[in-house]
Amino acid sequence: MRTQVGIIGAGPAGLLLSHLLHLRGISSVVLEKRSRDYVERRVRAGVLEQGTVDTLVEAGVGERMLREGLPHHGIELRYGGAGHRIAFEKLVPGRAITVYGQQEVVKDLIAARLAAGGDVRFEVEDVAVHGLDSEPYLTFGDERLDCDVIAGCDGFHGVSRPSIPEGVLSVFERDYPFAWLGILARVAPSSDELIYTRTERGFALHSMRSPTISRFYLQVPPDARMEDWPEERIWAELKARLETVPGFSLATGEILESGITPMRSFVVEPMQYGRLYLAGDAAHIVPPTGAKGLNLAVADVRVLTEALAAYFKDGTTDLLNGYSQACLKRVWRAQHFSYWMTTLLHTFEEDDAYARRLQLSYLDYVTSSEAAATTLAENYVGLPF
Ligand code: FAD
Ligand code: PHB
Repeated sequence: MRTQVGIIGAGPAGLLLSHLLHLRGISSVVLEKRSRDYVERRVRAGVLEQGTVDTLVEAGVGERMLREGLPHHGIELRYGGAGHRIAFEKLVPGRAITVYGQQEVVKDLIAARLAAGGDVRFEVEDVAVHGLDSEPYLTFGDERLDCDVIAGCDGFHGVSRPSIPEGVLSVFERDYPFAWLGILARVAPSSDELIYTRTERGFALHSMRSPTISRFYLQVPPDARMEDWPEERIWAELKARLETVPGFSLATGEILESGITPMRSFVVEPMQYGRLYLAGDAAHIVPPTGAKGLNLAVADVRVLTEALAAYFKDGTTDLLNGYSQACLKRVWRAQHFSYWMTTLLHTFEEDDAYARRLQLSYLDYVTSSEAAATTLAENYVGLPF
């Protein structure tokens, strides 16, 4: 079997790449180790930057997102007994975010690929990468897929990055001394906008998916286990962290899904080796406080599509050779923003009273200075693609 681009992973990066290549007349095969049902149900990101929304609309897969997604023109930072709105419409006019679940993006992309006769294979076993220096191919099960180029879109735990010979990649990473416990609940959001709250008990986030479904996150110890967090404890802790301004009451409901995610920052340089190009979480991870991971995956894929289009049109390799460099500037900006939001809003056990006062003073600055608030808003809605 032969294709132009062999894509490992049917997350947002792999599926969008396959779709954008199809629009340019370039063939691909997507190999995914999980089932379709699993990837369509996996609850993860929710915040789409304007550039991501525009990309999906331009690619013809934005119809349901435009209908069901929730445009947001601000977020609230809550701390010290008060809420402070970061008003996008005033600070970054004309730019906003859309709240639409990642699994909905994935569903829309899978539907579009299959409707166009795309080759997306689920539950493939033992994908392995070969021939990166000259004639690349993938093996899986007892099949072989020859390709011109391989795209590693298989997330942080995938096989593509480890297939690059040792010593080629520089790794930059940081682990945080906490994790996020996330829940999806059948309850109307208690606020119209996202609330990022910093308390002495730790960070919490109130987000949403629809007028009847809410999404919440709690900062928990890095070794926390779901069995230590029965439903009553989750709601009690969310209330303790969110009901910290006068008159705010958190509505509770049935918990539909829950999980714990470690928090880390990670980048490899370069994001390519031979005929293999890494995109999305396969090449970089950010802590979710900045809501950047999915948006970075989309940005990578846009750059890679242009490079591959030039290569398959007339054999030029300039854009392909410059792929990593073209992506890394945005990647590092998002790294810094995500790290900054994380340290601004979480409590660190090792922090003494002085460090905690500094953090509060910084929050006061961000919420009272227009320049500082604009920095936050501009990064949150995303720098132009
Ligand atoms: P993935 O979505 O991880 O997809 C990789 C795919 O490859 C998976 O389907 C996997 O099953 C498959 N795969 C792995 N190994 C193999 C293999 N060996 N063979 C075949 N297939 C394989 N980002 C935002 O922008 N905004 C947010 O609000 C946000 N919130 C988040 C909240 C949480 C709790 C988490 C965990 C993440 C959040 N993110 C957010 C990050 C975002 O979800 C990721 O950055 C995004 O999923 C990256 O997409 P991807 O396609 O690169 O990787
Ligand atoms: C989400 O809704 O899942 C979400 C929102 C904002 C974040 C992270 C996750 O920063």
